[in-house]
Amino acid sequence: MKITFYGHASLGIEVGGRHIIVDPYISANPKAAHIDIDTLKANYILVTHAHGDHILDVEAIAKRTNAVIISNAEIAGYYGAKGFQSHPMNHGGSWNFDFGKLKYVNAIHSSSFPDGSYGGNSGGFVIEGEHKNVYIAGDTALTMDMKLIPMRTKLDLAILPIGDNFTMDVEDAIIASDFLDCDKILGYHYDTFGYIEINHEESIRKFFDKGKDLMLLEIGDFIEL
Ligand code: NI
Ligand code: MN
Repeated sequence: MKITFYGHASLGIEVGGRHIIVDPYISANPKAAHIDIDTLKANYILVTHAHGDHILDVEAIAKRTNAVIISNAEIAGYYGAKGFQSHPMNHGGSWNFDFGKLKYVNAIHSSSFPDGSYGGNSGGFVIEGEHKNVYIAGDTALTMDMKLIPMRTKLDLAILPIGDNFTMDVEDAIIASDFLDCDKILGYHYDTFGYIEINHEESIRKFFDKGKDLMLLEIGDFIEL
């Protein structure tokens, strides 16, 4: 499994020979100016919630690639009504896709579209694929529900927001990684705007002091599991 960071909460995941884009917010992010969304491969687009900083480039990528948009029922319905391919899910439900098993799980956050449309309830995703399992938290507060995930899935990587203000901060993300029983963390949702700037070295050290590995990727860089 290959995971590429496209800035903010945007990810590219290659798994099972398929290409997944998560929460694309790239074309308006000046820090990601070197990423051209017209070059991104996508069989699927995962959307954690409807906020503008997670859906900005969904339509452009879906239109070009004909990717299936996977999200909660309300977001899937919103894009389905516009003629895009979509797959609706809701909290607690899983589906076996051709890249692996995907579960939509709870997140503590809000979810309305920039145009005011109802965006259902925010979520995160657990991907089980190619003997590697990844949790993508989405925008969320620390929540006890995270303790449920390792009861079903042994995680190899947890992708957690660490920028504070709109989501967990580093201290809460450390507790989250305990709840998730996963000491390998990819941080995201930081530095994009003034509200969520973090000190990288201090954040990495705080995880290190608890025996955990926080990875912060440059935009466009990737890790392989
Ligand atoms: Ni949000
Ligand atoms: Mn966000």
